[in-house]
Amino acid sequence: YEHRKKLYAINNEAKLFFFHNLLTNPIPKKYIVERGLKKELINKFMIGYATEKSQDLLNYMLKKGFKIEDLLELGLVKQSKRNNSLYDAYRNRLIFPIIDLRKNIIGFGGRTLVDDRAKYINSPESLVYHKSNNVYGVMNLRNVSKENKVILVEGYMDVISLSNYGIDYSVASLGTSLTIEQAKLISRYTKNVYICYDGDEAGINAAERALEIFRSINISPNIVKIPDGLDPDDYLKKYGRDSFNQLLENSLNPILYKYNNLINEYDLNDIDQKVIFLNKLTELLAEIESKLIRDEYINRFSDDLSLDRDNLQYEINKILNTKT
Ligand code: CTP
Ligand code: MN
Ligand code: MN
Ligand code: MN
Ligand code: MN
Repeated sequence: YEHRKKLYAINNEAKLFFFHNLLTNPIPKKYIVERGLKKELINKFMIGYATEKSQDLLNYMLKKGFKIEDLLELGLVKQSKRNNSLYDAYRNRLIFPIIDLRKNIIGFGGRTLVDDRAKYINSPESLVYHKSNNVYGVMNLRNVSKENKVILVEGYMDVISLSNYGIDYSVASLGTSLTIEQAKLISRYTKNVYICYDGDEAGINAAERALEIFRSINISPNIVKIPDGLDPDDYLKKYGRDSFNQLLENSLNPILYKYNNLINEYDLNDIDQKVIFLNKLTELLAEIESKLIRDEYINRFSDDLSLDRDNLQYEINKILNTKT
């Protein structure tokens, strides 16, 4: 417990150091302006900067009396395998502190400002940082409750950019693999979830995995599709807030989302493809637990596709009967 408190204290000191660096350095400020971010966001997200110097944080922390082994444990400092020399893990990077529900600084993400091969460096797993149990943007969770709505995004910059446009109820899973713990954490604040991952292939696939994770805890999320491979930050910058809100309104529930995917995947003029499509459609409908709701979709889809409603129902019943 004492050790844990010390690690939090170190992270907090590092946060202050990075934050001060940013305020006194033109390089990160220029970058922030270039990305179109308002100055207030620096404070809200406690954004910091790691300079190009290789022992900047290290020297500062040693002066403060902290121990090398603790800095290594937190991944703030690394040791060269070649000559055992110590160096700061984050250099030439914008720093995003990762905060937990108790407002402890548990880790950091650092985005390169010099096109380093690693776009982001993140804290390693440690006594205080468990990536899979936390989300980025906990300062927004109060608004999530208030709005009864959350926008789940992939990245640091998406959360910050949404705030830049006055949308203060997003959090990030930090990458494309949402965990069940993260989904449970979010669901404590709202059940009204908008999955808004990047519009690239990785993001689209990840959205489908996230959807199943939410379904496993009985949440039926909306899936937002961002066109042209853009991410929320790109889209906001290109088309603005109203257009982004329109995307949210056009988001689809899991059934309509999957239906839409099937429609786009198969050529219904080709009989072989249509057979596969009809099988998949039947399976999709059979997954709906509520008979009442299932009926709604059966009506809608059979109308939409000019299918015989009773035949569709008959095929669905076959699946349902083998299940029970
Ligand atoms: N990520 C990471 N390491 C990487 C790439 C991505 O940890 N090498 C995580 C980060 O949390 C990042 C998120 O995945 O924010 C989404 O990645 P990506 O879309 O590539 O980055 P953006 O957040 O869009 O960052 P930027 O707009 O600055 O390019
Ligand atoms: Mn991406
Ligand atoms: Mn992105
Ligand atoms: Mn981006
Ligand atoms: Mn054919």
